[in-house]
Amino acid sequence: MTERQRKTQKPAQSKQQAKELTYSSYLALDELLKLQRTVSEPEHPDELLFIIVHQASELWFKVILHELEGLVGLLEAKDTLGALTSTRRVNALVRIVTGQLSALETLPPQRFAQFRGYLGTSSGSQSVQFRAIEAMSGMRDEHFVQVLKQHGEIPPLVAEAFTKPTLQQLFEDLLVAHNVTLEQIYAEAHQRPLQMLAESLLEYEQGFAMWRFLHVQLVERIIGPATSGTGGTLGSRYLQKTVSQRFFPKLWEVRSKFFQG
Ligand code: HEM
Repeated sequence: MTERQRKTQKPAQSKQQAKELTYSSYLALDELLKLQRTVSEPEHPDELLFIIVHQASELWFKVILHELEGLVGLLEAKDTLGALTSTRRVNALVRIVTGQLSALETLPPQRFAQFRGYLGTSSGSQSVQFRAIEAMSGMRDEHFVQVLKQHGEIPPLVAEAFTKPTLQQLFEDLLVAHNVTLEQIYAEAHQRPLQMLAESLLEYEQGFAMWRFLHVQLVERIIGPATSGTGGTLGSRYLQKTVSQRFFPKLWEVRSKFFQG
């Protein structure tokens, strides 16, 4: 919804409707709390935690994607401060989803081994929303596309993310609109708003890399460094390689310019 639409929005409900709304009905809790369907038999006491951390992560991925879409709009509108506000929220969300991994650090290897077999070939690597976040953020290279295709056709949500310019591209367009270079926004004090936005985008990248790092630590802590994943990869050896991937290579490269000669 645009800001204009939001301002002209009618009061959403009649008083009667609002009266009937309860905490539970508003949040669809009856449905939500029935969605944790364990598959181990007899039910393993740790499977509920395993499901909830994944489901909660997917809910946070959903809102991250939503916010990234908003960020794309703000960057397209060349709204620097709006984009800065938006990235600050995205960064808070990434920190939350990363923090959740710690709940699974309490899952010891022998207990995970007791129900891992029930998971079959299902794997986090099939997370469509995770791939859409990566694609929106700028991962579009051939390797990325190949990995995606291993799981069949590229899902519509990801394909849609491919239709939008990358965040790095949009940020560069913003610099062109201001007639400045990446180097200038760091060198010139009056360019501070653009510099703050650049730093916030970098923080997003760092936060995402932190998720990848803590996830691979978690994986090694639970299944060890040499066990293959349920998704068919080499497990931690595959995941280690993803930690150094960059959404905004130019934002990292520009720093070395201040240390040359
Ligand atoms: C017991 C805890 C966990 C274990 C043992 C685990 C294991 C793995 C392994 C081995 C992979 C590599 C792909 C494969 O072959 O399966 C993977 C990928 C992935 N997992 Fe997990 N994982 C755990 C928790 C989580 C959680 C809580 C999430 C949150 C949604 C998650 C999301 C992902 C994603 C998005 C990938 C793809 C990463 C990429 O390709 O860069 N995992 N996981």
